[in-house]
Amino acid sequence: MPDTTTIRSLNDHIGKTVQILGWVRNHRSSGKIAFLIVRDGSGDTQVVAARHDVDDETWETVTGRIAYETSVLVEGTVQSDARSPGGVEITATRIEVLGDSSNDYPIQLKEAGVDFLFGQRHLWLRTRRQTAIMRVRDEVVKAIRDFMYERDFVLVDTPILTGSIGESAGTLFETEYFDLGKAYLAQTGQLYVEAAAAALGKVYCFGPTFRAEKSRTRRHLTEFWMVEPEVAWLDSDGNMELQEEFVSAIVRSVLDHRMDELSVLERDIEPLRAAVSPFDRMSYTEAVEVLNARGSEIKWGADLGVEDEAILMDGRAKPLFVYDYPKTAKAFYMKENPDDPRTVKCNDLLAPEGYGEIIGGSQREDDLDLLTARIREEGLPEETYSWYLDLRRYGTFVHSGFGLGLERTVSWICGLPHVREAIAFPRTMTRLDP
Ligand code: 4AD
Ligand code: MG
Repeated sequence: MPDTTTIRSLNDHIGKTVQILGWVRNHRSSGKIAFLIVRDGSGDTQVVAARHDVDDETWETVTGRIAYETSVLVEGTVQSDARSPGGVEITATRIEVLGDSSNDYPIQLKEAGVDFLFGQRHLWLRTRRQTAIMRVRDEVVKAIRDFMYERDFVLVDTPILTGSIGESAGTLFETEYFDLGKAYLAQTGQLYVEAAAAALGKVYCFGPTFRAEKSRTRRHLTEFWMVEPEVAWLDSDGNMELQEEFVSAIVRSVLDHRMDELSVLERDIEPLRAAVSPFDRMSYTEAVEVLNARGSEIKWGADLGVEDEAILMDGRAKPLFVYDYPKTAKAFYMKENPDDPRTVKCNDLLAPEGYGEIIGGSQREDDLDLLTARIREEGLPEETYSWYLDLRRYGTFVHSGFGLGLERTVSWICGLPHVREAIAFPRTMTRLDP
């Protein structure tokens, strides 16, 4: 392939002749001059082809052969131009078609609905809005990994095919697994990072997780990414401190490095600037009182619904921790609260602006008998938890951790209407293709 320059770095080549490789996002021509917007993944730039500057073949190309998304090689001189995207444009001397594009490029239809666009997701990804979201997601992932590395957390990759139920029996994808019976797609890596925390102290896993949730909400995917830190000798209060520092660092990193993308997304950044630690805190019991006072009919013991979360967040700029939920509303592994055994030492972190829960976390039950009793109460298959119970048999330890949903976090930071735009190829109840 020819030696080329990326559009992003054109500013370093003003006055020079360059070659770029990319796709035609837009094109028009009038009489003796043609304008193309070319994108190469690193950015967009305007290419100007004047009849007297280019050869006949190039002129035929730009006036006849080019369509939306034709892939091209452009050779020309970089000029600074304040009106052009990126502040520069290319005066072309030659444009060569590398790959033709049919005239029926589907994404140009202005009135296209969301379902249609998700059906064309492989092409829709090329638009400015979608590439901005993907870059923000990339920044969030980098911020997550940097935060963990700088604090001496060790990445431990956990299995996707598992034998034990991690969260709840109700939302499992299962498959036959040779002679061993059923395997499940992991709902969480948590049980495994708990084992790893006893080996390494501070660990995390970060990967895809699966929930066969029959919920068609703007917050649910059937496959989503979750980062799950797990820390030995950390209690529930320390766990919340870790979460607020973590989330603040992620938001700050996006504000520091992805302002261009946030502006493509027309994201109001004031609410993001407010997301600095410490965050607000409220116990579940207090939350129910507040909700009842504001007209909700929630009864103590029920999990908070989307509506309840919205009422609680109304008028709040910062994320809010709701902690110490009733045992009945939460998973089997959470530590019973010694001050009130009806509740467990846990928290959700609610994002503002209607985004709701982005983190679920807890101190883990470290008492062998209490944990065994919980597994029985929930009717979970005890045999498959023997290894997990071993962690309480051999040097049990205070430990806590949490799971932050990547797509929900990206949705909030980008201000997206639905979590499915936060992942390149979303999986929902009704979408398996592309
Ligand atoms: O609250 P959850 O179910 O917690 C756990 O899985 C724990 N094992 C985590 C831990 O303590 N290590 O899920 C954690 C987060 C939620 O707060 C949410 O952000 C995200 O994962 N999440 C989903 N995101 C998209 N679609 C879904 N169906 C999700 N379910 C949970
Ligand atoms: Mg949760």
